[in-house]
Amino acid sequence: MQNEELATQTIERKQRHVELCLEGDVDFNKRSGFERYEFRHNAVPELNLNEIDLSTTFLSKKINYPLMVSSMTGGYNGATQVNAMLAEACEALNIPLGIGSMRQALESETHRESFSVVRRVAPTIPIFANIGAAEVAAGLSRAQTKLLLDLVRADGLIVHLNATQELFQPEGNTNFKGVLAQLKKLCRAISVPVIAKEVGNGISGDAAKRLIDAGVQAIDVAGAGGTNWQKVEELRFTEQFNQDTRFTEGGLRELLNWGIPTAVCLEELKRLRRSKAYRSVQVIASGGITNGVEIAKALTLGADLAALAKPFLKAAFEPEGADAVKQFALRLMNDLRATMFLVGAKNIKSLKQTLIEKKS
Ligand SMILES: Cc1cc2nc3c(=O)[nH]c(=O)nc-3n(C[C@H](O)[C@H](O)[C@H](O)COP(=O)(O)O)c2cc1C
Repeated sequence: MQNEELATQTIERKQRHVELCLEGDVDFNKRSGFERYEFRHNAVPELNLNEIDLSTTFLSKKINYPLMVSSMTGGYNGATQVNAMLAEACEALNIPLGIGSMRQALESETHRESFSVVRRVAPTIPIFANIGAAEVAAGLSRAQTKLLLDLVRADGLIVHLNATQELFQPEGNTNFKGVLAQLKKLCRAISVPVIAKEVGNGISGDAAKRLIDAGVQAIDVAGAGGTNWQKVEELRFTEQFNQDTRFTEGGLRELLNWGIPTAVCLEELKRLRRSKAYRSVQVIASGGITNGVEIAKALTLGADLAALAKPFLKAAFEPEGADAVKQFALRLMNDLRATMFLVGAKNIKSLKQTLIEKKS
C-alpha cells in the first residue's frame, strides 16, 4: 500500500475510534476486579479531611494528584480540539497526560498540530508520546523516534501493546515478532523513560517481567473491565466489509471477553515488585476505572497512579469541554479523599500501606 493511502487509512481509523467510543456499546462484559475488594472502615481516623494530601511523584515529577489522562487521540481533523481540551484540564490540575498513537505523524505531515498543540497548551505537566508495539517491532529509525519526542517535548514514550486490537482490526498489523529486542534497543537509545502499556487486555506479572528486563521504567496495566478494543474493531470490521464476523459464535464470545482484569494485573505486579530487581518499576492502574474509590483500591494494590481514558473523552465532549474534564477529575479526587478519610490515610504513602480485604 502507498504511504499516502496508509496515512489516509490511519486518519479515518483514529476518527472512527473516537466516534465509536462515544456512541457504541464498546465496554467489556467482565468487570475490572475492584468490586472484589473492600476497605475496612476506620472508626477513629484521627485526621482532618481538609488536610489530606493527594500529591505524589511519578517518574521523578511532582504532581498534584495520583491521576493521569490516558492516551487516546491525535492525527485527524478535530483531534486538535480534543487534545487541547484534555491538555488544558491536565495543566490546570498538574497531572500527566498521555497522547494518542502518533503513528499518523510518522506517516504524513498533516495533522501534526493535533499532537504538538498539547505542549503549547500545557507547558509544565509531564506529557507522554505514544507509539504502537507493531511500529516498534518493525524498527523505528532514530529520526522517527526524535520526531515523536520532539513534537510534544515528551517526558517519556508510551509503547502500547495491543495484540488483541490489531488481531480484530480490519487492517491490523499482527506481526509482533522481535518486539522485545526492538523495545530493548529503543529503551537504550532514548534519554527519557519508556512506559509499556496495554489498551484494555492487561499486562500479567510474567509479561511485565519481560518488559522490565527489556528496559521499560513503568508499566500501565490497562486491564480488562472498561473500553473493549475487540468490540470497537469488530464493529469497524463489520461496517467496513459489510460482512459478518470471521469467527465462530462461541469463539467470538470468548475472544470478545479476552483479557486480564485490571485488579488481577495489579496483584501480579505487586508480587513481582517484591523482588529487588523489579521494585523500582512504576505502575499505572488503568482499564475500567470509573470512580475514586476504585483509584484508592488500585493504589492500595500497589499502583503509583491511576489513569482513565474513555470517561475523560466523554467529559471532553460535554458542552463545557476542558472544564467538564477538570470537574470530573476533581470529583474523582473527592471520592479518593473521602476514602482516605474513612480508612485513616493522611497521604498517598499511608494509603498504599492500608490493608484491603478481598471478598471470597
Ligand atoms: C478513543 C480512544 C482512543 C484510544 N487510542 C489509544 C492510543 O492511540 N494509544 C494507546 O496507547 N491507547 C489508546 N486508547 C486506550 C486507552 O488509553 C486505555 O488503555 C483504554 O481505553 C482502557 O481505559 P478505559 O477503560 O479508561 O477507557 C484509546 C482509548 C480511547 C477511548
